[in-house]
Amino acid sequence: MSHRDASGEILAGFIAPHPPHLVYGENPPQNKPQSQGGWENLRWAYQHCRDKIKALKPDVILVHSPHWQTVVGHHFLDVPKLKGLSVDPIFPHLFQYDFELDVDTELAEACYEEALEEGLAAKKMVNPNFRVDYGTITSLHMLNPDWDIPVVGISANNSPYYHTHDYAQDQMIKLGQATRRAIEKTGRRAILAASNTLSHLHFDREPAIPEDMSQEHIMSHEQYLWDMRFIELIRQGKLDEMMDILPEFMEKTFAEVKAGSLVWMLSAMNFPKIPAQIHGYGTVIGTGNVVAEWDLDKARREGTLTEEAMVHA
Ligand SMILES: [Fe+2]
Repeated sequence: MSHRDASGEILAGFIAPHPPHLVYGENPPQNKPQSQGGWENLRWAYQHCRDKIKALKPDVILVHSPHWQTVVGHHFLDVPKLKGLSVDPIFPHLFQYDFELDVDTELAEACYEEALEEGLAAKKMVNPNFRVDYGTITSLHMLNPDWDIPVVGISANNSPYYHTHDYAQDQMIKLGQATRRAIEKTGRRAILAASNTLSHLHFDREPAIPEDMSQEHIMSHEQYLWDMRFIELIRQGKLDEMMDILPEFMEKTFAEVKAGSLVWMLSAMNFPKIPAQIHGYGTVIGTGNVVAEWDLDKARREGTLTEEAMVHA
């Protein structure tokens, strides 16, 4: 076996948005509130991802969630088994989820070590009673409702909301590089999930029946156009141009990618200049959500992956 075969690699990365409505619409046994369905476009999009993930047989799914907010440093779930009730504080009537998950602690610790190596503040989350945030749970449930693949959860350091865009996203680029090295060194076949919505301005009133799809639409035409501009660029593999418009996208639409999940993931994948596959787009209380995939495994097999790291000024 060559050295390259022996080292770990990222098989694919997904934009995996986490509106709790998607879990609510599915009615899995873990979630207490019951629905009549809803948001099918996005739920069917996730179904494609599930099938692909199963076929890739990954060792682990890593997820970066905007709703595990840490003020000092980047934290990594580091308890072998976590169990409990995860509740969305804004939508407790939609999401009360009994979770049970296995953490790949060896990889979590490697991520921690590499983050320190990168000069980042980092911490291992070792509280056995930690209540995992609904963003992490929703993205993981939608990608793999069987929960039969270990995970690594990564917090969203709040720096994007305290610092300039460049500083904040630079932190996420370093976090991505640290994550990639940790995956390679531990020999893991990994899936990445950026748990974020695109445009994020939303309605502040909910219909009497939350899943009443006659009430669901994008918050504004401007927001829709921004989402489409973003999606068109990733569909064409134009990540440099996408990164150029990212600050304005965040500013104009309050895009949740600001929390860093997307840039963390792209950095871990070395900003692959391959077209992202769009599995679906849909709105949730007016926000824009895309389920998108960069299939690195396929690109490697076809020889189309140019791992040219992006340099930011
Ligand atoms: Fe969110």
